[in-house]
Amino acid sequence: MNDYYNYERITGEVTEFNRNWGGYFVAVENGNVIGAGGGGMIDDGIGELFVLYLDPDRRNEGIGTKLLETITQQQKVEYGAKEQWVSVQKGNRKAIPFYEAKGFKFRHEKIPPQNPEYIKLRYSRLI
Ligand SMILES: CC(C)(COP(=O)(O)OP(=O)(O)OC[C@H]1O[C@@H](n2cnc3c(N)ncnc32)[C@H](O)[C@@H]1OP(=O)(O)O)[C@@H](O)C(=O)NCCC(=O)NCCS
Repeated sequence: MNDYYNYERITGEVTEFNRNWGGYFVAVENGNVIGAGGGGMIDDGIGELFVLYLDPDRRNEGIGTKLLETITQQQKVEYGAKEQWVSVQKGNRKAIPFYEAKGFKFRHEKIPPQNPEYIKLRYSRLI
């Protein structure tokens, strides 16, 4: 966890963006961040959603849908994406129905060599 969400890394992620990391998009209400997400291009014409998180009390209100739509527009319009990928941890019952409802299809499993217990499921859709 600390590898992903330490101060230096997050500071870099909110101040620098390019086609490989398009920056964070945030949902804000009354000055409070209630959701955040971001992605980038992983190949010519192929984007990926890297992060998408909601305040746990604000799920299922359509906020994740809006964040995903905004990130998808960035990848299509600015970077010419025609396809979009996402990784989901195996067994994530909150995220998998969401992505399937958005048209993502399961493609294959990926077992990270350093963390073989964290099996990732790779999903993709045409955009
Ligand atoms: C996954 C997550 C980002 C979705 O955001 P959200 O704001 O709750 O989702 P929305 O309200 O926009 O959309 C819910 C959609 O998923 C579908 N959905 C959600 N749970 C479902 C379920 N159990 N069965 C079927 N469909 C489901 C809904 O039908 C809806 O689709 P629709 O808009 O086409 O009707 C959010 O729940 C979250 O933060 N989860 C925990 C963190 C996480 O797992 N992030 C993903 C890491 S890869």
